[in-house]
Amino acid sequence: MDTTVWFLTSNAGKLAEASHHFSELGMTVRALEVPEGSIVEPQASTLEEVAEAKIRQAMEHLPHEGAMVLVEDAGLFVDALDGFPGVYSSYVHETVGNAGMLRLLAHLLSEDPARSKRLRSASFQAVAALWDGHEIHVGKGVCQGSIAHEAKGEGGFGYDPIFIPSDLDEEGRPLDPETLGAVSTHGQTFGSVDAEMKHQFSHRRRALDDIVRQVQHLVNR
Ligand code: IMP
Repeated sequence: MDTTVWFLTSNAGKLAEASHHFSELGMTVRALEVPEGSIVEPQASTLEEVAEAKIRQAMEHLPHEGAMVLVEDAGLFVDALDGFPGVYSSYVHETVGNAGMLRLLAHLLSEDPARSKRLRSASFQAVAALWDGHEIHVGKGVCQGSIAHEAKGEGGFGYDPIFIPSDLDEEGRPLDPETLGAVSTHGQTFGSVDAEMKHQFSHRRRALDDIVRQVQHLVNR
């Protein structure tokens, strides 16, 4: 069996992360190159719909019959805004940026830090979709947390400087704001911690883990 997964991305960081995951199964990940402008960012209200629409477009550009192809999409979902910016995360970040997001939530504050975190709760979510040559598998990953009161840290990208992840227990499950977990940034934003620390919480990692679990059987096919 051909064990190459063609990933529709031009982001070297995402490619390296996916390579790491699929190498567990002895699979290689390569970037799927498509003619410029041939993939249209779909207008859809959920990440699942976006990923499925993208994978159907990517399947038009398979390097060979039966090739496996992977797409991944992510976003920030703020609970007090009913999940906004969600699928519009890139656009909102490019237009109003982190400062705009902080302004939108400025009224949500409390002197009690745990209550503030609850009022400002949010999650990063990622959906990965893989065409295995026969069917589409969809994997999802969530990273729970809250929006900080001010941007902090120069690390990461996008909303990292305003996102504080919830602590995790030993099994990687998120805990409520009063509980100190086995994995903790101690209230620091993703922008203030190193990539290794962020990786432990990563929504993208969880979505890929989910896919890898679903396609394990393929390597023995
Ligand atoms: P993409 O689908 O992975 O490109 O993510 C869409 C947008 O969501 C990005 O442009 C970022 O603004 C935001 N985003 C997704 N994942 C992250 C993250 O891990 N940190 C910060 N921002 C993120």
